[in-house]
Amino acid sequence: KNIVILVSGSGTNLQRIIDCIASGEIPDAKISLVVADRECFGLQRAVHAGIPYHLISRGKAFSENLEKIIPENTDLIVLAGFLSILDKEFCENFNGKIINIHPALLPKFGGKGMWGMNVHKAVLEAGEKESGATVHFVTSGIDEGEIILQGKTEISDNETPESLAEKVHQIEYDIFPKAINMVLHHSQSAK
Ligand code: GRF
Repeated sequence: KNIVILVSGSGTNLQRIIDCIASGEIPDAKISLVVADRECFGLQRAVHAGIPYHLISRGKAFSENLEKIIPENTDLIVLAGFLSILDKEFCENFNGKIINIHPALLPKFGGKGMWGMNVHKAVLEAGEKESGATVHFVTSGIDEGEIILQGKTEISDNETPESLAEKVHQIEYDIFPKAINMVLHHSQSAK
């Protein structure tokens, strides 16, 4: 199975996927391409792992340019800390083949502006008792596609956005490889 991974940031989730493929935790899979929409450490991880990569500048033509370079035999497109919005046409062309990880328990705390530390601040300000991460299919509605897998963590009394971000990252490293396996190997969705 061939996977394309899109990144915008430090790429620790990308690294986790690279490691899980190497260890066999994600079997029968290969990352054929890493694409970034800006200079970021995620690209360095691709270089280091010997994975082909591309940088496509952010902006209107991003989805169109991306579509041109997606390899023919791609089974799955994984958004791993990717900050651009893919356009409607792209989402429709690859319907059911694009997944994203979001650092909260969707459908709460998703949508426009809900990314990075904004999410964790919003969760704490709302007085939530728990948060977590969600892997979901990508559709043209931001953070609205079908949920594949979620993982939860409790929020402690002295939680800060930074400490919550760290906890949520650990959950992501657990559920992302599992969700990728579920989609690649068509196991039951754990909605
Ligand atoms: C993750 O928390 C993910 O949920 C969010 O961006 C972060 C990416 O982290 N969309 P990294 O680049 O994988 O370290």
